Amino acid sequence: MHDWTSILSGRFIVFDGPDGSGKSTQLRRFAEHCTADGIDPELVREPGGTPIGEAIRGVLLDPRYAEMELRCEMLLYMASRSQLMTERIRPAIDAGRFVLADRFISSTLAYQGTAGGLDPEEILAVGRVATGGCEPDLVVIFDVDEETAAGRLPADLDRMELKGAEFHRRVRQGYLAQATRDPDRHLVIDATRSEDEVFEALVAGVAGRLGREIGESRMDSGGHTAAR
Ligand code: TMP
Repeated sequence: MHDWTSILSGRFIVFDGPDGSGKSTQLRRFAEHCTADGIDPELVREPGGTPIGEAIRGVLLDPRYAEMELRCEMLLYMASRSQLMTERIRPAIDAGRFVLADRFISSTLAYQGTAGGLDPEEILAVGRVATGGCEPDLVVIFDVDEETAAGRLPADLDRMELKGAEFHRRVRQGYLAQATRDPDRHLVIDATRSEDEVFEALVAGVAGRLGREIGESRMDSGGHTAAR
C-alpha cells in the first residue's frame, strides 16, 4: 500500500513516449487509480489542453500542412505549452494539486530535436520562455520499438505520424538519450508488454521513485522546480 495523497500532492508528472507507445491509455488508468484513492488530478495534454492550445493542435496535426517549417513547428508546440502553463499547470501546482501531463518539453526534445535536427539548447531556451522554468518532478517514458508502435497507430495518420519509420526510430532514441542524461528525473517503462503489465510497472516505478524523493527533498525544496 502506498500513501498516494502524500506521494502526489503538489507534484507534476509527465507521461511521454513515441506515437503508439500506449501512454495515453496508461495515463487514463493512472488517473482512475488516483481518483479511487481520493486524489483529483489535473489532467492536461499537449499540444492542446486549452481552447487556444486545441486550435494550435489542429494546425500542428493537419496533414495538409506537410510543408511546415521546423522552427515554426517547434514554436507552435511551445505556444500551446505557454498557454497551458498559465491557464492550467501553474495554478494547479500552486493550489497543491497533482498535475499529470500527456507530453511536455521532453516531446519537443525528441521530435523536433533528436528526430527533426534542431539544437536542443535552442529548444531548452525557448522552453524556459514558454514555461517560466517550471520542470516536472518526473518524466515517465513509455519505451516501445518502432514495429510495435506502428502496429498500434490508427488507420488515418496525422501530420506527425506520417513522418515515417526512420523519423520515429530517432524519436525513440531521443527519449532514451534524455533518460540516460538525467536518470533521476526519468523513469523508463518497457511498453511493449501487455497493458496490465505496463500499468503494474508504472505504479511500482512512480511510487518507488517519488516515495524516496519525498523523504529526501520535500522538507527543503517542496519538490518540483518552479521558477516563476
Ligand atoms: P499525441 O497524439 O500524443 O497527442 O501527440 C501529438 C503529436 O505531436 C505526436 O506525434 C507527438 C507530437 N509532438 C511533437 O512533435 N512535439 C511536441 O512538443 C509535442 C508536445 C508533441
